[in-house]
Amino acid sequence: MQKYAKERRDQFYKLAKEDGYRARSAYKLLQIDDYLHILHNVERAVDLCAAPGSWSQVLSARLPPSAHIVAVDLAAIAPIPNVKLIQGDITTELTANQVIAAANGLADLVVCDGAPDVTGIHDLDEFVQAELIQAAFLISDRILRTGGSFVAKVFRGQLTETILVERLSQFFKKVQIVKPAASRSSSMEAFVVGQGFKEGPGEIIQGVACIGRGGIDSDKTY
Ligand SMILES: C[S@@+](CC[C@H](N)C(=O)[O-])C[C@H]1O[C@@H](n2cnc3c(N)ncnc32)[C@H](O)[C@@H]1O
Repeated sequence: MQKYAKERRDQFYKLAKEDGYRARSAYKLLQIDDYLHILHNVERAVDLCAAPGSWSQVLSARLPPSAHIVAVDLAAIAPIPNVKLIQGDITTELTANQVIAAANGLADLVVCDGAPDVTGIHDLDEFVQAELIQAAFLISDRILRTGGSFVAKVFRGQLTETILVERLSQFFKKVQIVKPAASRSSSMEAFVVGQGFKEGPGEIIQGVACIGRGGIDSDKTY
């Protein structure tokens, strides 16, 4: 099992090098898009917690040249074509306002791959991660257009399953958790995807769709 995970890590690591992505994370967003078409018809996108920038590279490459993309992180991000960069903490009002001003209109998509420094204490890590998701959602609530989509990294667990998905379903038509093949199976990471903003309260797709492995496995075991 460990060998398999390592091989997969190498596979996406090598692919990222070949394809010129700054991080193997790029394939997580690409696999989510292949499954849920979240980039379809997107003209305005916001990438929260974006450094080193591989998700923004995907947005820059997959969205039309006319697209308006804003990326923000605590860390500085090297320039990416067609992406406005902001350095700041998304949990602060100052940065939230800067992102909203830079977006200069309503967004079709907000993504957040944010991860705090992991302590290894699962409940604490899940809690801090939930704070980041809350900050991401607060920004989305101010900036997403009706019908827009939201993607955020989550740590799988009770908080995520019961509270977050339930709450998001009040705002989105469809909410589900996906685990892309590019996300290591040994990691608690998964992604919550809300589609159809303000078209809710909507449907919760139960379980975790494991995507990008040449088929969809529904994993309902956590
Ligand atoms: C896994 S990395 C993101 C990778 C990125 N999606 C990519 O593809 O290159 C997680 C990022 O979250 C950022 N982060 C964590 N907490 C943050 C906060 N409060 N505000 C802004 N960024 C934050 C970290 O600085 C880190 O760069």
